[in-house]
Amino acid sequence: MAFRNLTIADNRAIRRIEINRPDKLNALNRETLNELHVAFDQARHDDAIRVVIMAGSGEKAFIAGADIAELASLTTQQAQMFSATGQALMTKIERLGKPVIARIQGYALGGGMELAMSCHFRLASENARLGQPEINLGVIPGFGGTQRLLRLAGRGPALELCLTGAQIDARRALALGIVNHVVPPEQLDQEVDDLAVRLAACAPHALSGILDSVLVGGECGIDAGLEFETKAFALCFSTQDMREGTSAFLERRKPSFSGN
Ligand code: COA
Repeated sequence: MAFRNLTIADNRAIRRIEINRPDKLNALNRETLNELHVAFDQARHDDAIRVVIMAGSGEKAFIAGADIAELASLTTQQAQMFSATGQALMTKIERLGKPVIARIQGYALGGGMELAMSCHFRLASENARLGQPEINLGVIPGFGGTQRLLRLAGRGPALELCLTGAQIDARRALALGIVNHVVPPEQLDQEVDDLAVRLAACAPHALSGILDSVLVGGECGIDAGLEFETKAFALCFSTQDMREGTSAFLERRKPSFSGN
């Protein structure tokens, strides 16, 4: 499928999905949301892809939120569908089973911050501005923002950001645990690429075991989480990569993980 709003580029096992609407600060209209659904389905089902980088085009914004021009005319029923589509996309990204890195430059607002929060890593430029400004439009975050911000940063920051609609800079986002690293703008691509290369060299089954265990564990009690971890741990022992990883250590060489 040819995308009208996305640019997809592969570098070996790393896929970069970039929203290409710089004139609208990469705002998420329905067409873009639908294309992102397809793009992440493709990334999930392509065994050659081990890591995804999520980016926005242009210097100014990662994503400036849901497309307000579209939002403005939605009926209640359409709004429900819009929210459900957005939430399903965020959940799809979060549960991809492969690490997804959000490359955040400039504005990451509303649905942009929500999308970033559904990724597994958030690397931000010093010029990043994050926020949930929906309150200023008379609405609330509808792509999972109230829930993921609560889980990521706790009740205090979640309420503060959603109720005030305030933008925060990258340093505050780092202090709140919303982003993992902050780097000068000119170093952002290098930082993202280094992390992606490092992750792409890992055993994919082990990566997905960690992603699933942490995500499942965050939503259930410790006993169920520990049981899930045990199963995911044991599953690794059915892979060639586990044999390769342990052999490589004992033979004092670098492992080469095939994904099998
Ligand atoms: N939806 C639709 N269009 C958007 C958009 C959004 N969320 N955010 C920006 N745009 C468009 C603007 O309408 C403008 O388009 P135009 O040139 O055709 O008029 C273009 O992107 C550039 O934005 P502009 O507002 O001129 O840039 P700015 O530097 O003055 O301000 C922001 C940047 C991000 C502060 C401002 O665009 C903004 O507040 N956007 C909305 C953020 C928001 O509320 N997001 C949550 C939505 S639920």
